[in-house]
Amino acid sequence: MKKEFPRFILGLAAAFIVPLLLLIVVPYLQLSSVESVKYAETDEVDNAWAYPSVWTGANKDGEKIYASLGCAYCHTQMIRPTYAGADMWRKGWGGNEADGLARETQPEDYNNDQHAMLGYMRIGQDLANIGTRHTDRAWYHLKLYNARTQNVDSNMPSYKLLYRKQPLGIKSENALKLEGRFAVEEGYEVIPTEKAEALVDYLLSRKMDAKLPGQEKQEEVAEVSTAK
Ligand code: HEC
Repeated sequence: MKKEFPRFILGLAAAFIVPLLLLIVVPYLQLSSVESVKYAETDEVDNAWAYPSVWTGANKDGEKIYASLGCAYCHTQMIRPTYAGADMWRKGWGGNEADGLARETQPEDYNNDQHAMLGYMRIGQDLANIGTRHTDRAWYHLKLYNARTQNVDSNMPSYKLLYRKQPLGIKSENALKLEGRFAVEEGYEVIPTEKAEALVDYLLSRKMDAKLPGQEKQEEVAEVSTAK
């Protein structure tokens, strides 16, 4: 009994000291040496960050539709750091490789998003840079209408509710080119609703590969340290 009391006090002290070290002292030491990066003047608009600057059409509505249809249950929007996963090895996931822009996702990438759709699981591919990988609207419409139009084994659900079948008058420009078993009967066509267009606008805007202010500096540091 006598011995147990000091042990209890010691255990109690350790229970407080270890988290204090790991959650406060270690991060403080790590982060206190980080230098702040000044944004170049050209990156600022009205004294605010202009990054990310890529915006197309109705993608705010698209974001809500993406959320309401539960796309995030199967798709993430985050390219993990290489130590945490092999995302950067997958072609096009990190963004535009040809122009040397591909990179891991950074917190600034979500500046324009009302909600960061980080995602829950990866049953389908990561969509952080889907706007760089695919630029053709018709491709997106076919995928959403029925993913099996492009990939026979796809287990992505069909989002036909975003499309309207109507009697063929003058053929609409944006009518889906449905072939084979997906073709609709003679005299009808399938066109995207406004919701489908907004969702595609949103997907086209997913480009988390823009060069970040300060990125050159990091690259220089990386080059110098690998050259040594
Ligand atoms: C049940 C899981 C599931 C849900 C929910 C889902 N998807 Fe998918 N998605 C997949 C799978 C699996 C694939 C890969 C197979 C394929 O290409 O069809 C995929 C592929 C894709 C691709 C092509 C990615 C690429 O790199 O080629 C896009 C774009 C996409 N999904 C968008 C969406 C959107 C937008 C929604 C919501 C409206 C959605 N998905 C909902 C499972 C899902």
